[in-house]
Amino acid sequence: PSLVIVDRSGAERAVAAGPGLTVMEVIRDAGFDEMLALCGGCCSCATCHVHVDPAFAGLIDAMGADENDLLDGSADRDANSRLSCQIRFTPQLDGMRVTLAQDD
Ligand code: FES
Repeated sequence: PSLVIVDRSGAERAVAAGPGLTVMEVIRDAGFDEMLALCGGCCSCATCHVHVDPAFAGLIDAMGADENDLLDGSADRDANSRLSCQIRFTPQLDGMRVTLAQDD
């Protein structure tokens, strides 16, 4: 399975994604260092903000209250905003496109 990652310049790249990782870990492991993920996945920094392909919205983990509150602090929030550390990458998500948010 793979994840398609769009960076802040609009360039996109498909990367192989292993089992048991979060979307944040897949992005980080692929070398996209513009995504800071400062808290390491503890849902406390919001620097792993991405926009998720709406076609996959029904297949990803639901948003928690903490995540929702953190995203409220982001000027680039939209209906497809998520914290990528809160999404487990499962085989069902093969081919999902995520776009790195502009403001983190
Ligand atoms: Fe900090 Fe996701 S890595 S909230």
